Amino acid sequence: MNLPRLPVLLSVVALLLAPGAFTAACAQDPIKVGEVASLTGKEADFGRFSHRGTLLAIEHLNAAGGVLGKKFELLTEDNQSKAGESATAARKLVSRDKVVALLGEVASSRSLEIAPIAQTAKIPMVSPASTNPKVTETGNYIFRVCFIDPFQGTVMAKFALQRGWKKVATLTSVSSAYSVGLGKFFKETYLAGGGVIPAEQKYAESDKDFHAQLTAIKATGADAIFVPGYYTEAALISKQARELGLTVPLFGGDGWEGEPLLEIGGTAVEGIFFSTHYSSEDTAPAVQNFVKAYKARWGGETPNAMAALGYDSAMVLADAMKRAGTTDGTKLRDALAATKDYLGVTGKTSIDAQRNATKAAAIFTVKNGKFAFVESIAP
Ligand code: PHE
Repeated sequence: MNLPRLPVLLSVVALLLAPGAFTAACAQDPIKVGEVASLTGKEADFGRFSHRGTLLAIEHLNAAGGVLGKKFELLTEDNQSKAGESATAARKLVSRDKVVALLGEVASSRSLEIAPIAQTAKIPMVSPASTNPKVTETGNYIFRVCFIDPFQGTVMAKFALQRGWKKVATLTSVSSAYSVGLGKFFKETYLAGGGVIPAEQKYAESDKDFHAQLTAIKATGADAIFVPGYYTEAALISKQARELGLTVPLFGGDGWEGEPLLEIGGTAVEGIFFSTHYSSEDTAPAVQNFVKAYKARWGGETPNAMAALGYDSAMVLADAMKRAGTTDGTKLRDALAATKDYLGVTGKTSIDAQRNATKAAAIFTVKNGKFAFVESIAP
């Protein structure tokens, strides 16, 4: 009864073992790229936008035939916005899935977890949006497609000085590499420009009550408050400042950009300022084409800086792969390091000797419950 089946089975085995069939099967294997993102938890807004931008790029690349005759497969791991989870996720992607490169993360502290794993495995990591200098200092396989915080801190310090804010208090998250770094770089330029910092208050990620710090700041008569944090805490801080009768402007960096800033902050975030990486209102064709494609793909949602940087991170990686002619980690690293004037959504990406990019910053405010573009600051 089973006999007639045997020849069929044998021919399948023969086909699988034949070298020609083997090569053909391999050519169909996709190029696996890993992504670590905060899809859930406190910074889910970062993860949602960066993931949607990254996936859109992968889809565009595949629609154009992929690279090296292969399609891409994006393998995404969620770190739940929790400390420690990004390292676990990166290890899984490297050891289990054998990805050829890692994309992510947005938050610097989480990129700092992933970077040593990519470096040890000798596969490139491209962070879309982490701005702390230490991320790429981890090693020569670690890249980013955004500006770094010495620039962002300078931009916001000059902005404060231009506005005539002579005394700016700071409120920094001690448990975030991003916050500590951006606070430090802001301080250097602001003091050098003649500003005075009457109070340097601290908080930790996930804190909910900032009344003590804000009361201390209020007593100093500061003209404004710089909060280099993420949107959840920035919104709560803004609300509690207004409750305490503090009417001075609050301002921050790219970490403020997220829909929850508006949802949690409500009227308390009217008139705040923050710097970020791009504006969807930019009339450059690269931006408008991206905005159109993103909106069509993601239910009409307007892409923010993380979406644009997520898109560019995957595109810059694919561009390097084309030039390298291989997915070999070391050759891919070399090609990434040689990236020059790659024109993406967030402007031109040129990778410098420290594996960072140099790009303009965009300053936003909140007006009538919406983010509103103020100005662009060239590097
Ligand atoms: N730059 C932030 C960090 O390094 C992350 C971020 C980027 C947040 C872009 C919002 C927009 O932690």
